[in-house]
Amino acid sequence: MSSPAIAFARQNYPRFLDELKDLLRIPSISTLPEHKGDCRHAADVLAAELKRIGMENVRLIETEGNPLVYADWLHAAGKPTVLCYGHYDVQPPDPLDEWHTPPFEPTVRDGNIYARGAVDDKGQVCAQVKALESLLATKKALPLNVRVLLEGEEEVGGEGIAKFVASKPAELKADFALISDTELFAPGLPTLCVGLRGMIYTEIEVRGAKTDLHSGMYGGAAPNPFFSLAQILSELKDKDGHILIPGFYDDIIPPSPEELAAWRSLPFDEEQYRISEVGARQLVGEKGYSVLERTWARPTLDVHGIPGGFTGAGAKTVIPAKAVAKVSMRLVPGMTPTKAYAQYKSYVEKIAPAGVDVEVRLVHSGEPSLIPVNNPYIQAATRALHEVWGKDTVFIRSGGSIPIVGDFARHLGIPSVMMGFGLPDDNLHAPNEKFHLKNFELGIESLIRFMEETGR
Ligand code: BES
Ligand code: MN
Ligand code: MN
Repeated sequence: MSSPAIAFARQNYPRFLDELKDLLRIPSISTLPEHKGDCRHAADVLAAELKRIGMENVRLIETEGNPLVYADWLHAAGKPTVLCYGHYDVQPPDPLDEWHTPPFEPTVRDGNIYARGAVDDKGQVCAQVKALESLLATKKALPLNVRVLLEGEEEVGGEGIAKFVASKPAELKADFALISDTELFAPGLPTLCVGLRGMIYTEIEVRGAKTDLHSGMYGGAAPNPFFSLAQILSELKDKDGHILIPGFYDDIIPPSPEELAAWRSLPFDEEQYRISEVGARQLVGEKGYSVLERTWARPTLDVHGIPGGFTGAGAKTVIPAKAVAKVSMRLVPGMTPTKAYAQYKSYVEKIAPAGVDVEVRLVHSGEPSLIPVNNPYIQAATRALHEVWGKDTVFIRSGGSIPIVGDFARHLGIPSVMMGFGLPDDNLHAPNEKFHLKNFELGIESLIRFMEETGR
């Protein structure tokens, strides 16, 4: 592994870390309108960085939401073109008091960098940029043609990038996409993710009386929308975790016997997972499926929050006029957001209790993805990973969603190589998110070797 680019990276890790910290200080939280300016700031910083390392045609592409960052370098005649993707937006940091150090003051402790976005996804975007920098700095050229496309709304459904990819496929012409936004299956184990769940994120709003009412004066006569909502929610799944929406499971394409056999040979212990990752008394879910099957290859239905009514300290005797539940479903290959949403909406409307108005709304949606593994880019990735990690790559799916992967397949006709370097306990979306610094470094080296291999 005598790549000069890798030698360059190794000499520059302290500076790379400082530059990652600068990016992590920007609170680019896409779901909170008051952070719009921070999102744009993160986009500007990344664009300046891409320009500095020698990428060309660097520009922000405006969308209805946060801007995309685009750059390219297309001088490797006869070589394939990679489309590097990542997202610079992050999830909100709450609950704040559970962080050991503030979420936007990146701090190194025990070989990890702690900050919101450390691993999801600024640290991994930064790893891709540093791989490009190391290649450009040592060779004044890249081993293959490269386009970079970063978005700032992945965590809220990615509508802007989806529209851009659908409307301008010629501007993104590439042979494959490279996405670093996933995890290693276990520490030190090189991993490629080849399947993601899709999702539909919805709200159910139930309205009863025309205004909030005194619960003594009207209790017993006025409908309580929280009860109606609870009735609806209780009819969405049975006690075994089976989703009761008619037809919901009909189109699922189950994993092949070979894929299931491969999952069984992964180093995974359900009891260990229950204790150290989940930390609950018992796991839940459909009978007859392993944890990996339930989280990778079966759909879900979850409630994320029930805003409405009185939630402050103390007691207030009120019958609220309305109640809302935020409900999402993860979809697996074979299912489509359009059909799943139609089935869900008509079922909720059918089971709506009398005396209240029920409205179902779609907030955002994304397709599930399954990547065929017999392509030269996946093979090049396993060779590169073997050199850096000294081990054979495991192929996994993930229960999470990256909606753009489906759009790349549909509109650009290209497969994605999902080469990510997070760890299962990196606390994505949770307090004390971290990125293991060794994985940041080996991630950069893996990406360098991968680009060298695909450009050979
Ligand atoms: N990077 C994650 C998805 C992910 C997590 C993939 C872990 C593999 C392993 C991504 O940023 C994410 O959180 N996506 C959202 C998408 C949604 C808002 C459409 C998700 O999965 O909830
Ligand atoms: Mn992510
Ligand atoms: Mn995320």
